[in-house]
Amino acid sequence: MSIPPVPSRSFPKSFLWGTATASYQIEGAITEDGRTPSIWDTFSATPGKVTNGDTGEMACDHYHRWSEDLDILADLGVGAYRFSIAWPRIHPEVSGPANQKGLDFYQRLIDGLRDRNITPLPTMYHWDLPQALEDQGGWANRETALRFADYAATVLEELDGIEKWTTFNEPWCSAWLGYGYGIHAPGRTDIGDAVRATHNLLLAHGLGVEAARSLRPDVEIGLTLNLGVHRPGTSHPDDRAAAWRADGNTNRLFLDPLFRGSYPEDMLEIYADTNGFDAMREGDLALISAPIDFLGINFYTPGTVFGAGREQQAREAGFNLGPARTSTDKDYLLAIGAETPGRPQTAMGWEIDATALRELLVRLKNEYTAVPLYITENGAAFHDYVDSSGRVLDPERVTYVHQHLSACLDAIADGVDLRGYFLWSLLDNFEWAYGYSRRFGIVWVDYDSGRRIPKESFHWYRGVVTTNELDTRS
Ligand code: FCB
Repeated sequence: MSIPPVPSRSFPKSFLWGTATASYQIEGAITEDGRTPSIWDTFSATPGKVTNGDTGEMACDHYHRWSEDLDILADLGVGAYRFSIAWPRIHPEVSGPANQKGLDFYQRLIDGLRDRNITPLPTMYHWDLPQALEDQGGWANRETALRFADYAATVLEELDGIEKWTTFNEPWCSAWLGYGYGIHAPGRTDIGDAVRATHNLLLAHGLGVEAARSLRPDVEIGLTLNLGVHRPGTSHPDDRAAAWRADGNTNRLFLDPLFRGSYPEDMLEIYADTNGFDAMREGDLALISAPIDFLGINFYTPGTVFGAGREQQAREAGFNLGPARTSTDKDYLLAIGAETPGRPQTAMGWEIDATALRELLVRLKNEYTAVPLYITENGAAFHDYVDSSGRVLDPERVTYVHQHLSACLDAIADGVDLRGYFLWSLLDNFEWAYGYSRRFGIVWVDYDSGRRIPKESFHWYRGVVTTNELDTRS
């Protein structure tokens, strides 16, 4: 009798391992070296917008502790690090020269990574828009996309040592959480503006790609989307229609213009009365759909969707409904983020289901693109604490990451060209509207002293990245 071989759980040889952070969430030093306010400074200073009134004023003090943080990364053994550049450090005024001190900070960071043999993967925009641009209409104003092109040109020309650039992080969140639902900066609640912002962010991405092609033909350029898997709560036609609509808003509204050069018909119709698509000009879609070199995907949780007016049925099916969005987006989904009965969830209340990640990756390959894919964010918040022996034991995070890495391996076996994985996050940090109340790090940050303590998951992840293998627990 032959014993079947243990399935191989190795990642491809050149698989890029990393962790991710973002400028406003970790840097602090908000008034230093010429930085001007961003929309997140304004929003977090507005009472009631962020849990406990937390702000990014100090955050992880990474602006001063960057070298220590890079040593932690080196100790982790990752080959890459994803971070973002704060626009208000580079172009503190709406127009005017670049700020050398801001550029110097990021050049030091890039050089520090290179010295440690870590590939830098910078994102040009991870939500910290200069407040001065918001004062002129922000992303609802086409001008902002043009200013982004100037900013992109500056960082492309001035910063050395970058092989891969990412234009945007999760434009859906900027547009919809920021301009549609008021949950993120700048806190506006106008669906028409959310549609306008969607288009202008995509246009800005296209202009960023154009700048890269002309100024730095040697670099690769892509963007990161937060894509979802939206499952109808039941087989009722209203739930199925709502799930498709949710898919349209989160996925197709971005994937179609990027990879097909058009907006989906149903989205054009649904948002027609908001006039948001009036933002489109001749030639925009050609710019937006210009080829990119890779696509980054941020994935945390799937969503379950019910049709509007079906709260009762959802409750009867045992679902704990997430925040309804029907008040701002009529007829729309009811329950993205609803918890599936019996499924575990993170401290964000997000259901854990890694099979959705595999499903998403396979769909991208089948329906949209053959460009290389990277998971640019995946991870989980749990209620961590430092125990009496000074350690932070976070077995749930290990399990979460293990399951999602396993799903990545499954997707690779399905033929998906997945090239890397960036764990969110290196450090506990400012989790946007949740402030410091949610910890996503594999390194604990003591916000009073600034002290860093690698959690158990850090040690576990080091094992994965240094061996390029995933143990085969069930
Ligand atoms: C993503 C953001 C990232 C972080 C994680 C938890 O949407 O890109 O900054 O907050 O969620």
